[in-house]
Amino acid sequence: ENIGTVVFENSTAASKAVAQQIATLIRLKQENQESCILGLATGSSPKGLYAELVRMHKEEGLSFKNVITFNLDEYYPMEPDSINSYVRFMKELLLDQVDILPENYHIPDGTLSKEEIADYCANYEAKIEALGGIDLQILGIGGNGHIGFNESGSLQNSKTRLVALDHITRVAASKDFSGLGNTPRTAITLGIKKIMEAKQVILMAWGEGKSDIIKKSVEGEVTNQIPASFLQEHNNAVFVLDKEASSKL
Ligand code: GLP
Repeated sequence: ENIGTVVFENSTAASKAVAQQIATLIRLKQENQESCILGLATGSSPKGLYAELVRMHKEEGLSFKNVITFNLDEYYPMEPDSINSYVRFMKELLLDQVDILPENYHIPDGTLSKEEIADYCANYEAKIEALGGIDLQILGIGGNGHIGFNESGSLQNSKTRLVALDHITRVAASKDFSGLGNTPRTAITLGIKKIMEAKQVILMAWGEGKSDIIKKSVEGEVTNQIPASFLQEHNNAVFVLDKEASSKL
């Protein structure tokens, strides 16, 4: 069974369309006096989306007062104010630019001791469950098909946990860390199970470089070798692509 795909002329148009969809959901929840629970991703793919949401906040009065967010992942170990931390990324690109309440965003903590991680991860999931689950999960995709930092081999029912990063993932990240030697070997990631439980999933991918893994994820067999392929079994998942990323479908 194939995942739904929507193809746009370019990533800017695609990002605006996704932002529009999120804004509609936030406003609908506001009208019903409900919280809007968003699952958020880092990486280059959602940057245009966050820029558009910030623009909508500043120019159109889109409020994030009823929004609660859970980020997918963080490197471990990682200090929040470090240049490559996902905390810093999220604050700079979205969270500090809108009126979300500080107690309403959650990003896995890269400063925990090893002994604290298991309880912390269980608690991260419990918070999501207490809110009734994620309304809309935003995803990017790694070149190896990872979602969040759920690398090849991650099980469909995997929980939020500390994971070892694949070599290929570390090589991709090493440009930001000025060399492989400085690149973290581990990360904390939301598990596949919580991603699959999200009511709606939007995976965004841009560029020719993603076209092979997009084809495998959308049309190939469902396999834990390509965690994004699990989304074929989600009843409300869509891949939002530019022409290049969709070129092999
Ligand atoms: C990192 C993130 C993933 C992201 C991936 C792709 O590995 N942990 O969540 O999807 O990068 O990044 P990009 O969007 O830059 O291609």
